[in-house]
Amino acid sequence: MPHTSARDRIRLASLREKIVSAEEAASHIHDGMVVGMSGFTRAGEAKAVPLALAARARTHPLKISLITGASLGNDLDKQLAEAHVLARRMPFQSDPALRRAINAGEVMFVDQHLSETVEHLRTRQLGPIDVAVVEAVGITADGGIIPTTSVGNSASFAILAEKVIVELNVSQPLALEGLHDIYIPTRRPFREPIPVVGPDSRVGLPFIPVPPEKIAAIVITDRGDSPSNAMPADAETAAIAGHLMGFLEGEVAAGRLTERLLPLQAGIGTIANAVMMGFIDSPFRDLTMYSEVLQDSTFDLFDAGKLNFASGSSITLSQPKAEAVMADITRYKPRLVLRPQEVSNHPEIIRRLGIIAINTALEFDIYGNVNSTHVNGTHMMNGIGGSGDFARNAYLSVFVTKSTAKGGALSSVVPMASHVDHTEHDVDVVVTEIGLADLRELAPRERAREIIANCVHPLYREALSDYVERATARGGHTPHILEEALSWHIRARDGGRMVEPLHLAATA
Ligand code: COA
Repeated sequence: MPHTSARDRIRLASLREKIVSAEEAASHIHDGMVVGMSGFTRAGEAKAVPLALAARARTHPLKISLITGASLGNDLDKQLAEAHVLARRMPFQSDPALRRAINAGEVMFVDQHLSETVEHLRTRQLGPIDVAVVEAVGITADGGIIPTTSVGNSASFAILAEKVIVELNVSQPLALEGLHDIYIPTRRPFREPIPVVGPDSRVGLPFIPVPPEKIAAIVITDRGDSPSNAMPADAETAAIAGHLMGFLEGEVAAGRLTERLLPLQAGIGTIANAVMMGFIDSPFRDLTMYSEVLQDSTFDLFDAGKLNFASGSSITLSQPKAEAVMADITRYKPRLVLRPQEVSNHPEIIRRLGIIAINTALEFDIYGNVNSTHVNGTHMMNGIGGSGDFARNAYLSVFVTKSTAKGGALSSVVPMASHVDHTEHDVDVVVTEIGLADLRELAPRERAREIIANCVHPLYREALSDYVERATARGGHTPHILEEALSWHIRARDGGRMVEPLHLAATA
């Protein structure tokens, strides 16, 4: 490990005495504590201390409440879940082992809008935070912490915690310094407007200000971020992108948008990343992003000359893209900023800028209610993440999904969503590979018609039309046959398919 260069990255010389092993740093964390750790969508998480904590818990059991920015990489949520360290976890995760523990009721998971967690900490509705563990590329001469590939909730964790542990990651380029814009909203009741007026506004400091005496330990690490697990675009995601581009072209033709559109937000995962790739061959130009996770597509759009600026809270890339981007970060840096997630996802700014928000649904119903989180209404997938922050406040709130899941056994368009994260009031446009439904200014009965005509896989279209017809005959503003509304999910739970094969054969 290049120890000398690590010491050089600690510019406040007195803090160099705080360098300890991960085990020693982890010994500041005790049973019952509330711990805030950096990390947002597999980027910039503290790596060595949580691993040391999991190792210790295997022989000396302990439980903590763990709050992060969002999901962690390097299998940390798996390690911590399997060592039974997690009593409570918030506000987001995406790990299969932790998901199992959550769904078994072993870990109390609080699925929270990503903009809200630190508001709850600041007002003591949550916390207080005992220890913050934050990954850094360096420490300034005043003891300020320079984050790595994410900001997430790190700044408020460090500011609000009793003690701070810094993980200095020497594998990340020091050239990341200057990328971050740390702005902390003022306290209520005298809070002032957040002065972000465009994706490229810089309104804060390039480091996290903390009194150096709060830094209890510094751990040197060289473990990299985990690569993104988003899969490449396929024919279906390309079709979804095509429908969305066609819709946006229509908005330009109608004079509601220009070819520069408005700042774009794209959700996590394979589908949103692939849909963003659709902008490469589109007629749009001089685009900007005001988003939360910047994935491979952001850098492909920069390289294609389509994107002028991107604001986010983390950079989560595939292995080859991470190598290329980090080797060339000084070239990208003037067009990038990473912010605390309460700023990247702040309703005030999202509404002010007029974001076009593109997020992914697990399923949506015939009236446009969206389920992003719960499989069959009960089992947590990942969490709502920032999708609610954006969907409710966006200028245009778009949800994308493939029309079927699990090899066609499940329809992503259902009579009634089995769990609702985004109500019909927050959803403007839904898109599958089959087509796009523009739900703006439509009443529920009109929405159902649009969705069934445009978004449903042919295997399920007749069954859904039949449901709507019979429901409508009973009346109501939002017609339903309540005793049947979740029957598709019950069949999926019991037999793995939403509609019986016989019925499918008859309607295919
Ligand atoms: N029922 C059950 N499972 C479904 C499903 C449905 N209706 N639709 C999709 N799935 C499953 C897929 O089969 C896949 O399972 P697998 O991992 O076992 O193969 C998994 O969900 C992921 O689907 P995928 O098609 O690969 O899409 P994705 O990577 O784009 O993820 C979400 C989709 C919805 C899970 C993901 O976007 C998410 O967690 N969203 C909520 C948070 C969010 O939107 N944040 C945005 C702000 S950053």
